[in-house]
Amino acid sequence: MTDPRARRALERLPRYVAGGTPEAVQRELGGPPPVKLASNENPLGPSPAALEALSRAAANWARYPDDDCTALRDALAAHLGVPQACVAVGAGSTALLKLLAEAYLDRTQTVVYAWPSFPMYPVVARLQEAREVQVPLAPDGRHDLDRMAEVAAGAQLVVVCNPNNPTGTYLSEQELSHFLQRLPAGPLVVVDEAYCEFAREAAPDYPDGVRWVREGRRVAVLRSFSKVYGLAGLRVGYLVAPPEVVEAVVRVREPFHVSTPAQTAALAALGDHGHVARTLAVVAEGRRRLMAVAGRLGLRTYPSVANFVWMDVERPAGEVSDALARRGVIVRPGPAGTTWIRVSVGTPDEVQRFEEALEDVLPALPRTHTGTGRGPAAR
Ligand SMILES: Cc1ncc(COP(=O)(O)O)c(C=O)c1O
Repeated sequence: MTDPRARRALERLPRYVAGGTPEAVQRELGGPPPVKLASNENPLGPSPAALEALSRAAANWARYPDDDCTALRDALAAHLGVPQACVAVGAGSTALLKLLAEAYLDRTQTVVYAWPSFPMYPVVARLQEAREVQVPLAPDGRHDLDRMAEVAAGAQLVVVCNPNNPTGTYLSEQELSHFLQRLPAGPLVVVDEAYCEFAREAAPDYPDGVRWVREGRRVAVLRSFSKVYGLAGLRVGYLVAPPEVVEAVVRVREPFHVSTPAQTAALAALGDHGHVARTLAVVAEGRRRLMAVAGRLGLRTYPSVANFVWMDVERPAGEVSDALARRGVIVRPGPAGTTWIRVSVGTPDEVQRFEEALEDVLPALPRTHTGTGRGPAAR
């Protein structure tokens, strides 16, 4: 229970529930170490270049980190073709999202976002006691951009998750350009591109959100080192936005926000093109296999361009994910009462273990329905 003397806003704050760790599941259920396909991490692990850079940098860890993240911001600015003043680095893109909310939202302000989507959007909005407009996803699992443009007048922030978590679906360059043109003047459009590298590889018309920042639009792009770069445990992400937006975020950020190991590893990982290419190849193949498994078992999915697949297992999601965990595979269930699970793309072995476990589990659980609805948010 939350302390009743804590801020009233916390009563409406959903608690973010992270994916189960292999250690916790093994402690509870025993057996060999389970496979974790619950948090969309890199199945190949961190970039070897990052590991090497970390071992060289350790001598410096008695010093506070570079508060400006100078070397990493320089490298990102060069990589993205924007001035350094357009880049902020944070302890994960989630931290930058929260900083944006702190900088832009209060109880007089409105934030618009699609739903189901990344569960941190309502968390940061409610913490700021902002007004929220959740726009249901269209039946194809994608943002309803017409509706979002209609309700955006007067909003302070409009958040677009591209590709969307949990559906894995994406909005094209043309669709988002058109949306930005139609949008009433005023809102800052936050494009969450945590999975952009996978989407770019999967869909030629997937847009580069940074383009709109280069063009001087009121767009802020969030990206992550947790996914394709394999550094989820170090917590590092970045924001690309007009300089005044970066400045607003930097004002609310605590000092020394990003640790030296995180900065060092991210800089090395950014230059490790081989690791990125290997990751993209493994994910593309694993995603194909996951979609094929779902298809073979007659389970509905959305066409994912990310490193996860959202599937309707037609049985209570919690029961399916518990049964999978008992067979050594951790996935992310949708909320209680739903029948959708989100499965991260793993190595070929991990995908195989998932396939075998799912084939075992499904016949033992009674179906509650056959394939309808878009399903709720996974965390
Ligand atoms: C859409 C989306 N944005 C952001 C994040 C978090 O990224 P980070 O680890 O950089 O905070 C996730 C992680 O699952 C995500 O799904």
